[in-house]
Amino acid sequence: MTEKPVCLNDFEEHAKRILPKAVYDYYRSGADEQQTLADNVAAFSRWRLYPRVLRDVSQIDLSVSVLGQRISMPVCVAATAMQRMAHPDGETATVRACRSAGTGMMLSSWATSSIEEVAESAPNSLRWLQLYIYKDRELTKSLVLRAERAGYKGIFVTVDTPYLGKRQNDVRNRFMLPSHLRMANFESPDLSFSSKNGYGEDSGLAVYVAKAIDPTLKWEDIAWLKKLTKLPVVVKGILRADDAQEAVKYGVDGILVSNHGARQLDCVPATIDVLQEIVEAVEGRAEVFLDGGVRKGTDIMKALALGAKAVFVGRPVLWGLAYQGENGVNEVLELLRQELSLAVALTGCRTVNEIDKSIVRKFPSFASRI
Ligand SMILES: Cc1cc2nc3c(=O)[nH]c(=O)nc-3n(C[C@H](O)[C@H](O)[C@H](O)COP(=O)(O)O)c2cc1C
Repeated sequence: MTEKPVCLNDFEEHAKRILPKAVYDYYRSGADEQQTLADNVAAFSRWRLYPRVLRDVSQIDLSVSVLGQRISMPVCVAATAMQRMAHPDGETATVRACRSAGTGMMLSSWATSSIEEVAESAPNSLRWLQLYIYKDRELTKSLVLRAERAGYKGIFVTVDTPYLGKRQNDVRNRFMLPSHLRMANFESPDLSFSSKNGYGEDSGLAVYVAKAIDPTLKWEDIAWLKKLTKLPVVVKGILRADDAQEAVKYGVDGILVSNHGARQLDCVPATIDVLQEIVEAVEGRAEVFLDGGVRKGTDIMKALALGAKAVFVGRPVLWGLAYQGENGVNEVLELLRQELSLAVALTGCRTVNEIDKSIVRKFPSFASRI
């Protein structure tokens, strides 16, 4: 990129130009016809901000607490698998950028850097582990215990992936990891998604999931996980108020309203459109977070006004990595911070606590349709 990026789309355009096609496709794609992929972003523009004026906004404080940890802004990094395809430093670059930005990183179970490597590359960083529940429960348990030992501060258990969604480009590209990379949390070639294994005609990752991930997962397994660890547990992938209430019954500490970046089931709602009903159903009994399509400061503002404690960003971090590794992720996070800070001030707020639901309303022509 010759010119300095001024918005997150600039990072994506650059990534599209420089990444191998199969890698860019894997990072960018949504499921099936990608209706939800487009809607995750578009839905934010169906909500409008209602600013207050004349409120001395010369001092802005964006800091919040997430699962008991203070962070400098309500923007964290979501788990995205296999980050070394975007930059040789992969997840170790991301965690360092998060530490500099004073925020937290959710590490994917399917990272190309191990739980321990990521911890060692950024001591005193705030990290959570995203957990897939494997058919092999001992293996699943060992991931949780490794995260505890390495100082991770919470477990985000992904509940929307009993099977992998159909991502058409990955099927066409027969997507698999480049041969020099592997999923670093696993020893066995079968579980490390090594390209030395044959994955046939399909998306290699879909074949991997069908073999390894447990499709029998049910609510009782959340109780099992809660018993296994003292760390806070967040369920990742909730889209319904009744599921959120069920999660609260099972004692979760947080709920991440997420459709997996529109990569699992197509035609599900945009996350911002279901956030409010989930926040209302939870009634403050767990922290509620949102991810999916967050690309601007005003998107973050809308999610906070509708009750999210913080948001997570997925793809923008990959575009930052592709741009300039650690520096690139840092630029992405700082851009979001600046945009959020401006949006907070221009709506007449000074702290995140002051962002209440009076700030946001569904755009009238859309409100009449719900
Ligand atoms: C390339 C890619 C890989 C992902 N890998 C994982 C993963 O390993 N585990 C998981 O729970 N979610 C994964 N996700 C979903 C993200 O955690 C997050 O829900 C989503 O990216 C948020 O949407 P956004 O990309 O529009 O910000 C992945 C998403 C992308 C784009």
